[in-house]
Amino acid sequence: MVASEMMFGRRACPGQHVADQSLFINTALALWAFNISQDSARPIDILAFTDAANAHPLPFALRFVPRVKGLEAMLGDV
Ligand code: HEM
Repeated sequence: MVASEMMFGRRACPGQHVADQSLFINTALALWAFNISQDSARPIDILAFTDAANAHPLPFALRFVPRVKGLEAMLGDV
């Protein structure tokens, strides 16, 4: 797959497959480890983005509740 955010042609990012697989693994691990939800005390403003050309969301708060007993010991210092 040649994704546009990695550019294309001869200068395409040679690390794109590492980046894609790493994102998949880390997302899967986070979803396995935690129930992730909105913090009702600090609701997410879904319209809060940066003004830059590559707009991205401003920081927001989430609640991470472990899904597995003894998670901290299992993950160590991760
Ligand atoms: C989300 C992660 C990444 C994004 C969005 C990204 C994006 C890009 C972009 C836009 C370019 C420029 C392409 C061009 O000049 O036309 C590039 C080049 C490059 N990237 Fe990545 N990259 C990522 C991860 C990585 C990783 C993990 C590695 C190495 C393991 C890597 C190594 C390189 C190298 C060596 C180039 C220079 C290629 C060249 O000039 O021939 N990148 N990347």
